[in-house]
Amino acid sequence: MTDQTQHLTVVTHPLVQHKLTIMREKSTSTAVFRQLLREISQLLAYEVTHKLAMTTKRIETPIQEMDAPALDGRKLALVSILRAGNGLLDGMLELIPSARVGFIGLYRDEETLKPVQYYCKLPTELGERLVIAVDPMLATGNSSAAAIDLLKEQGAKDIRFLCLLAAPEGVARMKEAHPDVPIVTAALDDRLDEQGYIVPGLGDAGDRMFGTK
Ligand code: URA
Repeated sequence: MTDQTQHLTVVTHPLVQHKLTIMREKSTSTAVFRQLLREISQLLAYEVTHKLAMTTKRIETPIQEMDAPALDGRKLALVSILRAGNGLLDGMLELIPSARVGFIGLYRDEETLKPVQYYCKLPTELGERLVIAVDPMLATGNSSAAAIDLLKEQGAKDIRFLCLLAAPEGVARMKEAHPDVPIVTAALDDRLDEQGYIVPGLGDAGDRMFGTK
């Protein structure tokens, strides 16, 4: 259940939308928020991984031997954009434990307002993998576009971007910078406010996940 353009897929499945509504509510506790993010990440994972590399494996059923399809987990890299990306990463890793995992840390320079990298640890041979970059909030798109720049510099060629909420401004920024990177999200919201928050949004995803301010 999706609304799709070539560049953006909005997962409209009722379970995703119901869980997202609870996450948006400001009265939702940190523990419930985190649990729902984990659950939604697994539902979104279903959409974003539909073309995963497969291999076959010789197995024996109670009836006979067969070559059965199996995921080739070595061909997948999940890359969390810190810190909120970890909320999506955890649920996805439960589904695909054999995936390789990377982390990219970026902060916004207060003077230039540009994203600055403070941490980067990525799996090897990115060029041979499907790389799924995860960050719950696609707001201005500046840090997401910078993270994708970095992945491409490291050789990644087949990249997808998974988020929970997207703003039109962020989608446009990503489309301009990385038209080859499809975006999967649970909702496309109305706009950004003056502080760069997604409206109506859910607030600061990292703060809501970790109970910080
Ligand atoms: N990051 C967040 O956590 N929330 C927003 O609304 C925008 C960016």
